[in-house]
Amino acid sequence: VSDRVYVVTGSASGMGRATASLLAEAGHRVVGVDRRDADVVADLAMPEGRQAMLDGIRAAAGGRADAVIACAGVGGADLRGGRERLETVIRVNYFGVLASLEGLRPLLAESEAPRAATITSIVFPVDPDDALIAACLAGDEEQAVALCGSDAYPGPLEVYGASKRALARWVRRTAPTPEWAGAGIALNAVGPAVIDTPMTRDLLATPALRARITDGRPMPLRGYGSPEHVGALLVWLTSPENGFVTGQVIFADGGHDAVKRGDNVW
Ligand SMILES: NC(=O)c1ccc[n+]([C@@H]2O[C@H](COP(=O)([O-])OP(=O)(O)OC[C@H]3O[C@@H](n4cnc5c(N)ncnc54)[C@H](O)[C@@H]3O)[C@@H](O)[C@H]2O)c1
Repeated sequence: VSDRVYVVTGSASGMGRATASLLAEAGHRVVGVDRRDADVVADLAMPEGRQAMLDGIRAAAGGRADAVIACAGVGGADLRGGRERLETVIRVNYFGVLASLEGLRPLLAESEAPRAATITSIVFPVDPDDALIAACLAGDEEQAVALCGSDAYPGPLEVYGASKRALARWVRRTAPTPEWAGAGIALNAVGPAVIDTPMTRDLLATPALRARITDGRPMPLRGYGSPEHVGALLVWLTSPENGFVTGQVIFADGGHDAVKRGDNVW
């Protein structure tokens, strides 16, 4: 039994749930955060929900967190409809993740082996617009949300892709800073290809979206991945054994990135 406390957001489903289970089986204390079925029930799309998360974790974990794993996100069926849904993608996948990681950083700073990780994505074949990514990275949530409703963003995948690319860039920029690396906190992301979770099950049931998602996404190692494949990597990245890896976006994608981007990224 370990005395480490892990906060896992998105713990009610998919990769967050698998990660929380792996940690609990290994004897760690896990505080799950989600909209439902969690130790701390909070809506990370909204400022009040983000504050409720921080208050709830302080109460549930006695002010301790040795690691934060931010898995809560929307996609899949959530991508189907309307401007409100697109706004939610940006609010949860980018600003909700930052609220979790930055909001809990003061607790991490008290740990002897503090670690943080989140989930981005494979590099998207669609081109998300730089203005939306820039609004995210500037921390301007309302500007980012306003851009989601403009004509420049017709497609849900473009907005989803922008939320993930902005998050990857934020991890890259933030990890080496004095507040993170300087405080001994490793910060990384995992970039999955298509993983078999409730999120993709709904998405794959919509023929037009299924074609956009599966076309051109080879995963030669084993086709779709399982939530545990990604969970095992998140567990290692946030373990004390990870002493020197930070600022990375590590693809857990069955070889997709190696096929799609080849060897000239180095
Ligand atoms: N499944 C895939 O193929 C895939 C691929 C790449 C990246 N991702 C990303 O991985 C992460 C986890 O996805 P998953 O496939 O496990 O999905 P999932 O739908 O199974 O789980 C997501 C969890 O996040 C929670 N959540 C959503 N909005 C929330 C909110 N406003 N407040 C609190 N909790 C909220 C949901 O309730 C759910 O329990 C997401 O960020 C997703 O974008 C998924």
